[in-house]
Amino acid sequence: MLTVLKNLHRQYGDMVSFRLAHLQYYSLNHPEFAKHVLVSNKDNYLKDGRSSQQIRLLAGQSLLTDNGDSWYHKRRQLQNTFRVDTVKKFKDVVESESNLLLEEWRNDNTPVDIHSAMMHLTYQVIGKSLLSEDLTHTTDQVAKSMEVSLLHLYRRIFGVALPLMIPTSGNQRFKHERKKLHHIVDNILQRRLTIKNHDTNDLLDKMIAAQQSETLFDSVWLRDEVVTLLLAGHETTANALTWVWYLLAQHPDVEQKVYDEITEHFNGPVDDIEKLSNLTYTLQVFYEAIRLYPPIWAIERSARDVDEIAGYKIKKNSTLFISIYTLHRHPDFWESPDKFNPERFDSKRDASTAYMPFGLGHRMCLGKNFAIQEAMIVLVYLLQRCRLRLVNKESVEPEPGITLRVRNKLMMNIEWRE
Ligand code: HEM
Repeated sequence: MLTVLKNLHRQYGDMVSFRLAHLQYYSLNHPEFAKHVLVSNKDNYLKDGRSSQQIRLLAGQSLLTDNGDSWYHKRRQLQNTFRVDTVKKFKDVVESESNLLLEEWRNDNTPVDIHSAMMHLTYQVIGKSLLSEDLTHTTDQVAKSMEVSLLHLYRRIFGVALPLMIPTSGNQRFKHERKKLHHIVDNILQRRLTIKNHDTNDLLDKMIAAQQSETLFDSVWLRDEVVTLLLAGHETTANALTWVWYLLAQHPDVEQKVYDEITEHFNGPVDDIEKLSNLTYTLQVFYEAIRLYPPIWAIERSARDVDEIAGYKIKKNSTLFISIYTLHRHPDFWESPDKFNPERFDSKRDASTAYMPFGLGHRMCLGKNFAIQEAMIVLVYLLQRCRLRLVNKESVEPEPGITLRVRNKLMMNIEWRE
């Protein structure tokens, strides 16, 4: 898909219209077009295309896939919990998980699959900070369920999507894994609802309170939101971190600069979260990594009604792809777009408008601050102690699915600093 989108852009320009079976698609490759759809004429564009329909099979009608008043209500409910001060509380969780990872690596001196390590870490962070749950015993099962489910849904988005009741092997496997995932989440909810006087005061408590006080939310909503948070909240950040490790290993000079900056401000753990704001270069590296490899590589919307974007007619009920991947490498907006160059994000330059790793407008990522702070703490913690080096020197390819992963495993050796 990435090659297809890039080639379409190269051949036909910033707006490409095409048909797949009976469906009309547009691929948008210009920041102003993206702004039109996501901001200025947002009411005409819904999350109701094939992607949303497929993701609903796993995560239901949750914040991620809902629309209109119902979405707005959910967004307001969850937004407060993601205020910066709540995010700050999770610092200890990120550090203790990073510490566990280091211990594991020290005890086993063999190469590590860094993608799987980051997935494990971010999953635990979501579990402990938002749900106050240690999810260690379910990590492998959730990883498998997510992998199988997301692959199946991705294939259904761009291929044939037979009704789930038709027992193809893909549908059967998907339903089996979805059942397991839902079972894990139902158990978490059940535990919380039956234990009285718990002292958690976390996102889950707030969601349960909202569900109990509002007729708008039913118990299925609760489960769907938790599945959504697990889905949206761990794989994206894990992919971002994986790409950071990959790029740092390939650019030891950049890695040294990051290390110098981190050790100038920290000696061990992040004692004060405010001090993360001193890590301007480290943040530039993170931004540049998700420019080249945006974990959400495209945003999809469907047009409720006809529209016109920069003179191009948009048909009613058509599907629009805002290709974040192509925008982030658009030669009109980025110099040497395929080059890893964190300096392009320094304060002397204006951030390009063709940059939207967390989306744009009212449906911008809910977990943006959470993700950035989590990534920064992980980098501070791990980079002080070790370097990660690629086992195989050949370049690693991105694999687009629901998120942008590395193709195959990313095996790395740990080099200890002390
Ligand atoms: C580097 C990490 C992340 C990236 C790149 C990312 C990217 C995005 C993007 C591009 C969207 C907008 C999709 C659209 O407009 O269709 C989005 C939405 C969303 N993200 Fe993230 N995300 C990240 C981490 C997180 C985390 C950690 C959480 C939760 C803890 C989260 C929760 C959500 C939710 C709930 C939405 C839907 C918001 C809505 O529609 O109102 N994300 N994310």
